[in-house]
Amino acid sequence: MWAGRFAEQVALVTGAASGIGYGIAARLGREGCTVILADMDEQGLAAAVSNLKQSGIRAAAHTLDISDAAQVSQCVDDIVRDHGRLDVTVNSAGIIGQTSTPIVDYDVEVYERVLRVNLLGSFLVTKYALKPMLERKYGRILLIASIGGKEGNPGMAGYASSKSGVMGLVKGVGKEVAESGVTVNGIAPAVIRTPMNEKTSPEQLKYMVERVPMKRLGTVEEVASLAAWIVSPEASFNTGFVFDLSGGRATY
Ligand SMILES: NC(=O)c1ccc[n+]([C@@H]2O[C@H](COP(=O)([O-])OP(=O)(O)OC[C@H]3O[C@@H](n4cnc5c(N)ncnc54)[C@H](O)[C@@H]3O)[C@@H](O)[C@H]2O)c1
Repeated sequence: MWAGRFAEQVALVTGAASGIGYGIAARLGREGCTVILADMDEQGLAAAVSNLKQSGIRAAAHTLDISDAAQVSQCVDDIVRDHGRLDVTVNSAGIIGQTSTPIVDYDVEVYERVLRVNLLGSFLVTKYALKPMLERKYGRILLIASIGGKEGNPGMAGYASSKSGVMGLVKGVGKEVAESGVTVNGIAPAVIRTPMNEKTSPEQLKYMVERVPMKRLGTVEEVASLAAWIVSPEASFNTGFVFDLSGGRATY
C-alpha cells in the first residue's frame, strides 16, 4: 500500500455499501483519496461511510440506482460541484439474479433486471463519469465484470450474459477514448468471499470453487489491491483490458 498515492484525488465507487465496492473504497481512502460511496442500500451506505470516517478517511455517501440515467448523471454532477473533480470511478454495483437455474426455467423478468443493473448500469456510470474526466484529460474508470462473463457459468444466464456485455463495453470504450488521458479497464474475478455469495446456491458455489486451481475463494483485499493499481496514475499504458483475478481458473 502507498499512503498518499491518491492524495488530492476524488473517486466514485458504486456498490460501496458492501463487499468488493466497500473494500475498494476503503483501500483508496487509506491511500489518501476522497471517496464518494454510492449504493441503493441507504442504511448499508450510512454504516459504510461512518466506518471509513472513523478510520480517518474522507468519505461521503450518495444514494443511487445505477440503472437510472438521471440519478447517475446527477451523482456525477454533484461530485464535480462539491469536489471540483472526478479522477477515479469504480463500478462495483451488481446483482447475481437466479443461480442453478437452467435457461428454460429462468424468469424473463429476472433476466431483464440483471441486464438492466449489471449492463445498462455499467454503461450509464461509464457514460456520465467520462464527461468530466475528458474535460480534464485525466481519469480512470474500472468496471467489475466476472469470470462468469469470460468463461460462462451454467445456470446463470442473466449474470453470464450481462458480464460478457460489461467486458465488451470495457474493450470498446477503452479504445474509443484511448488518446484522451482516460483509461477504461475491467476486472474479471472468480468467486470472491462477499455477501453476494450468501445468495448463491451451495451447488453453484461448489461448482465455481472446484474450478479454481487454488481451490479457494478470493478475498476482497485481493480485488482491492489490483483495483487500486489499475485506477492509479501509475497504470498509464493499460486500457480496454479486462484483468484476470481467478486463482488460475482463466489463464488468458
Ligand atoms: N463476489 C463474487 O464472487 C464476485 C465475483 C465476480 C464478480 N463480482 C462482481 O463484483 C461486484 C460486487 O459484488 P459483491 O460480491 O461485492 O456483491 P455485494 O452484494 O456484496 O455488493 C453489491 C452492492 O451493489 C449494490 N447494488 C445492487 N444493485 C444496485 C443498483 N441498481 N444501484 C446501486 N447499487 C446497487 C448492493 O446494494 C450492494 O451493496 C458485482 O458487480 C459482482 O457481479 C463478484
